[in-house]
Amino acid sequence: MSVTRVELAGRSYEVCVDGGLLADFANQCGGLLRKKVVPIITDRNVAEKWREPVEQSLRDAGHEAEFLVLDPGEGAKSWPVLERVVDWLLDHEVERGDHIVALGGGVIGDLTGFAAAITKRGCGFIQAPTTLLAQVDSSVGGKTAINAKAGKNLVGAFHQPSLVLADLDSLATLPLREVQAGYAEVIKYGILGDRDFFEWCEANGPKVIEGERDALEHAVTESVKAKARIVAEDERETTGARALLNLGHTFGHALEAETGFSDRLLHGEGVALGMVLAARYSARRDLISQQDAVRVARAIAASGLPSEVSRLSLTCSGGDLAAHMLHDKKMDAGTLPFVLLRDIGEAFLDKEVSLEDVGTFLGEQLKG
Ligand code: NAD
Ligand code: GLY
Repeated sequence: MSVTRVELAGRSYEVCVDGGLLADFANQCGGLLRKKVVPIITDRNVAEKWREPVEQSLRDAGHEAEFLVLDPGEGAKSWPVLERVVDWLLDHEVERGDHIVALGGGVIGDLTGFAAAITKRGCGFIQAPTTLLAQVDSSVGGKTAINAKAGKNLVGAFHQPSLVLADLDSLATLPLREVQAGYAEVIKYGILGDRDFFEWCEANGPKVIEGERDALEHAVTESVKAKARIVAEDERETTGARALLNLGHTFGHALEAETGFSDRLLHGEGVALGMVLAARYSARRDLISQQDAVRVARAIAASGLPSEVSRLSLTCSGGDLAAHMLHDKKMDAGTLPFVLLRDIGEAFLDKEVSLEDVGTFLGEQLKG
């Protein structure tokens, strides 16, 4: 098992990565479970595969698991579902010192974390992430949110979990496309800040996707370490360090918006395409070589992720895509900071990017 500590004054916590953590859930949580009844929020897909071992482990330890099973999908990150979750927690007489459990992917983690942040002005929660994306990214760092009419993740809070249990076994039941989408966030850590890890991903990406245990454990652990380091440095995204985690997200978000935040393009697929675009745009600005931009695209394509925007067959213009960026929540005083590359493994924040130039560039990319 690897254990990474997220160091935050007064709110440090551990991220455990191993197999068998859900089957040993009660022991892993230790003293965090103060009461007999343990409230668990999950979705139907996850409950079908993973409710039983968690329930059994809690029963063996003298607890009773109470599940709220939601419909899967992004729709759960909404006001009505948040209200349902909070009312359910209040019905279960959750107190500030209690911990509720988020068992699922990033949707369940973001929603449950936000419900925990506002219930009784903040109660504890444990993340039990069951997607690759949630294990390497969303369960660590305390960003919690629901979506609003105006856009994704616009209503939320920073609220850190007390423990993260990333059970590698849970990834065995995850559909391949979701594994690939999560892998985009893995390779992101290499491209943005660790050339050696990027090279490891070039050599081992397909093994991670196939679920080869050592490769998977290394990928998740290294990603968690990178995220923990960045979150400890810049918890609330104020110094620029955490903003580098948005590599690929500004371009990706525009593509997600254009495809209606639908199954046509999963978040991780948007990030994958976004990273290719960020690398190509960096090459266009002579910040990195064309060869390095090609290398980024190849490594992404090798894992089965999309790497060519032209293959999406979008009918919009480059300007239309750039226009989506105006609604990006990272807009700051009328400018949109872009994460670009000085090298593979060296991302930086450029606050001087012209959206008109980005629109022209995207127009070329749409044509292929
Ligand atoms: P998700 O939670 O929707 O899970 C993807 C699908 O996999 C769902 O259908 C789910 O039911 C299913 N699933 C989950 N675990 C499974 C398992 N073990 N076996 C079988 N099926 C399983 O999506 P996601 O990709 O995990 O998360 C996306 C969300 O995360 C988005 O809402 C995004 O905004 C958010 N996010 C948050 C942060 C953050 O820092 N808080 C970072 C990145 C993404
Ligand atoms: N996923 C980006 C962040 O946690 O800051």
